[in-house]
Amino acid sequence: MAFLDLIERKRDGGTLSPDEIRGFVGEVVAGVLPREQVSAFLMAVLFRGMDESERRTLTLAMRDSGEVLDWSRDPRRPVVDKHSTGGVGDKVSLPLAPLLASLGFRVPMISGRGLGITGGTLDKLESIPGFSTRLPSERIRELVEQDGVAMVGQTERMVPADRILYALRDVTGTVPSRDLITASILSKKLAEGLEALVLDVKCGAAAFMRTRAEATRLAESLEGLANQCGVGTRAFVTRMDQPLGRSAGNWLEVVESVDCLRGKGPADLRELVCCFAGSLLVQTGRATDLAAAIGVASGELDSGRPLLVWNRMLERQGADMDAYFRRLGSDVLAPVVREVRSPASGFVCQVDARRLGEAVRRLGAGRLQAGDEIDPEVGLDRLVQVGDSVCPGDLLARIHARSEQAAEVAMSDIAAAFRIQEAPVDRDPVRLT
Ligand code: URA
Repeated sequence: MAFLDLIERKRDGGTLSPDEIRGFVGEVVAGVLPREQVSAFLMAVLFRGMDESERRTLTLAMRDSGEVLDWSRDPRRPVVDKHSTGGVGDKVSLPLAPLLASLGFRVPMISGRGLGITGGTLDKLESIPGFSTRLPSERIRELVEQDGVAMVGQTERMVPADRILYALRDVTGTVPSRDLITASILSKKLAEGLEALVLDVKCGAAAFMRTRAEATRLAESLEGLANQCGVGTRAFVTRMDQPLGRSAGNWLEVVESVDCLRGKGPADLRELVCCFAGSLLVQTGRATDLAAAIGVASGELDSGRPLLVWNRMLERQGADMDAYFRRLGSDVLAPVVREVRSPASGFVCQVDARRLGEAVRRLGAGRLQAGDEIDPEVGLDRLVQVGDSVCPGDLLARIHARSEQAAEVAMSDIAAAFRIQEAPVDRDPVRLT
């Protein structure tokens, strides 16, 4: 059947059969469909949506377009992972993966690069001198079985359908489709061969999903489909109106993650890390009550053991540990550091994550176009958060830039991201569900 017929049917609000969807994915991977037709099909899906059965078939066909990892069953060491829809300063995966390994899970964490203004776990990890995120699946398996964790990028052989479709979505305005996001995220997670998964669906100014209603619908779509596919999944909706933690930028976020692994660091980061670890304890039957499980995760984080797992993971994945510790010991790496100071006294009532995310990307921490080089050292740290009290001249943020000119350009944008009022401001909870 001509692919044009499928495009027209979807454009007119029709439904595609499982065989038609599987055929589409097969032909995408084989490279036999013209890009303009695939793009038109994606746009039709964006406007018309897919029903539950179409979405499930698309997800599974994408998962099966490449290699799917499989693991020996070991009830004492379930295979788990976490995924976030992405945000500014979202470094949760960095401390979470070693914490999970320290709690006895096996964690084959396959992550992505930054998208738009949202940072990517791989870009953060690659700011560690020598650390390699490109490992073949045999080595990923070895590390996960031996140490409980590997943090890597998708191998060439995994989920090729998503790589091709994502690249087209990125340049055709078809990223924000709930059906396509669900299939894209879950095809990759299901290819890891997981037993349980926790999802962080971000909601707010700097998230794909701006409103709580949209984020809740995406969370339900992801959770429902992943559970149907046999992976015990829980999705949390969390706030992304201000950056998570007090830093945004690749190396600066590694520093904050290590603080978290030392039992310190910002409370909102620690809260999400412990919540997701606690949830996985409950999801895998190792705990019954979420509050108690969060307590267990929190105690483990404070024990120092997850930090040892992190250090061992860095060594195993090729990090130059002397250079890494030297970097950790220096307060500043970027050539230029500027301070943004408060013009008034009062309470911080807004820290605009979208504006800050855009400024951080322009500083060089993210990409404006696919293939752009990342500068690992630039970004922001010592950010204030909503609810903090400030006096005139107090620090609102530090800018780490590669030149005076870049710092100067960033300065006014970054200063405009903060609003201060006289009356005290309540701290918003980071977790919405
Ligand atoms: N992350 C993904 O992996 N895919 C999407 O479509 C959106 C976010």
